Amino acid sequence: MTEQIHAISEWPDTRKILDQLDALVSQPMRPIPRDRMEGYLAYFEERCKKSKALIEDAREYIPGGVQHNLAFNYPFPLAIDKAEGAHLWDVDGNRYIDFLQAGGPTLLGSNYEPVQEKVIELIRHCGPSTGLFHEYELKLARLITKHMPSVEQFRMLGSGTESVMAALRTARNFTGNQKVIKVGGGYHGWSDQMVFGLRIPGTANLDAHGIPMDCLAHVQEIFPNDVDSPAGLRKRMAENEKQGGTAAVIVEPLGPESGTRPVMPDYNRQVRELCDEFGSLLIFDEVVTGFRVGLGGAQAYFDVRPDLTIFGKCVAGGYPAAGGLGGSAEIMSTLAAGIQSGKPRVMVGGTLSANPLSCAAGYYSILEIEKEKAHIKAGRAGDRLTRGLQSIIADYELPFVAFNHGSICHLETSGPMLLDMTHPNIIEEAHKRKDMMEEMGAAFMAEGIVTLAGSRLYTSMADTDDVVEDALERFERIFRHM
Ligand SMILES: Cc1ncc(COP(=O)(O)O)c(C=O)c1O
Repeated sequence: MTEQIHAISEWPDTRKILDQLDALVSQPMRPIPRDRMEGYLAYFEERCKKSKALIEDAREYIPGGVQHNLAFNYPFPLAIDKAEGAHLWDVDGNRYIDFLQAGGPTLLGSNYEPVQEKVIELIRHCGPSTGLFHEYELKLARLITKHMPSVEQFRMLGSGTESVMAALRTARNFTGNQKVIKVGGGYHGWSDQMVFGLRIPGTANLDAHGIPMDCLAHVQEIFPNDVDSPAGLRKRMAENEKQGGTAAVIVEPLGPESGTRPVMPDYNRQVRELCDEFGSLLIFDEVVTGFRVGLGGAQAYFDVRPDLTIFGKCVAGGYPAAGGLGGSAEIMSTLAAGIQSGKPRVMVGGTLSANPLSCAAGYYSILEIEKEKAHIKAGRAGDRLTRGLQSIIADYELPFVAFNHGSICHLETSGPMLLDMTHPNIIEEAHKRKDMMEEMGAAFMAEGIVTLAGSRLYTSMADTDDVVEDALERFERIFRHM
């Protein structure tokens, strides 16, 4: 038997999932009955008093009371006191199964001790940053290039958002072309150019508050999985030939929003072929998929070689300043390096980017992922969790949809991001469906499960069969009454 190297044990039937998702948003919602929901809300009032008091204070000093937009904060955010492996504890002492995993980075589980020890050792010896070269920069870059052949050189940056900015600038400089094409619904951080076509495909500049329209003049959106329709990628690239050419096509390789609308299995290959045909760079945003799908990222799984790869999250193992850009030596040599004059290089960088702490954390995390096969273990937990959810959904004849790509699991109960712009009351419907998703998130939390926005679950190596069984019993308690 060949050894499993990717976290995705089997590619789910994309067509079937997309049909199920369409069916979910074409029918009325199935929210939690009012009396049950009142019970869940009472949990927060009765059992989360310290969190509530902290958040009431925070509302005075922090806009909206929260700094993070990852977890849903309904009815109010919980203040977390401790994280370990598969679990979180709030300041009131309540324990939760953690399927947020910091938004994805902690594939080894929270606060994984072997990495934590190395980071503490480094801080004791050198502190987190000096502004000068540290050997861990080299160690991390070399390790990444070992696992991803398309990455001959790696530039560490401060976040996924920054790395996308760097990639777009690099692509324009390298190709001499202007246009950048993204897939509608996809998330590539919050830089000016990428707040475009967020969440629901076709929304274009709907969320671009405070962004000059000029910034978006060369950004275009195509519909997920659409290569050959009259509005598809091929046509768009052909039209761009007449107006400055396409510098890059940027995709999340599993599909927009970490595969919330999954790609057809051959989609990435088709995009690669079009990029070659039109002289454009293919950018894989592997902020979530590297190294969750495997040490070689989604590019190894699909066997498609992008020109540029965006890193984030796992690249610093859950420690701060997680970002990076990788590609061939030819392309990467166009990036600025140090203080240079007279060389027309692409300006990237930042005071704390590639600090020793982030590089050491990333280096040891990736080593541990490799040693422990953390992506495979997390992927198995994702399979088990998803199969369990699918069976509960079937038992109670609910319209909900559960699917996964390894440790990246989706549980759609109301599907606000899956609405179609042709829906007659799209804005109102999206709000109603988002409210239901928020209620689901609160119910999951009250049952002791933390999710990403009530609809996405990241598993980690720490999710043993017992943890998954425990989680499924908790989900069942909610779904049984719907
Ligand atoms: C696919 C993808 N790209 C880019 C980003 C932005 O990364 P960061 O939050 O580190 O800026 C994210 C963040 O969730 C992401 O999921």
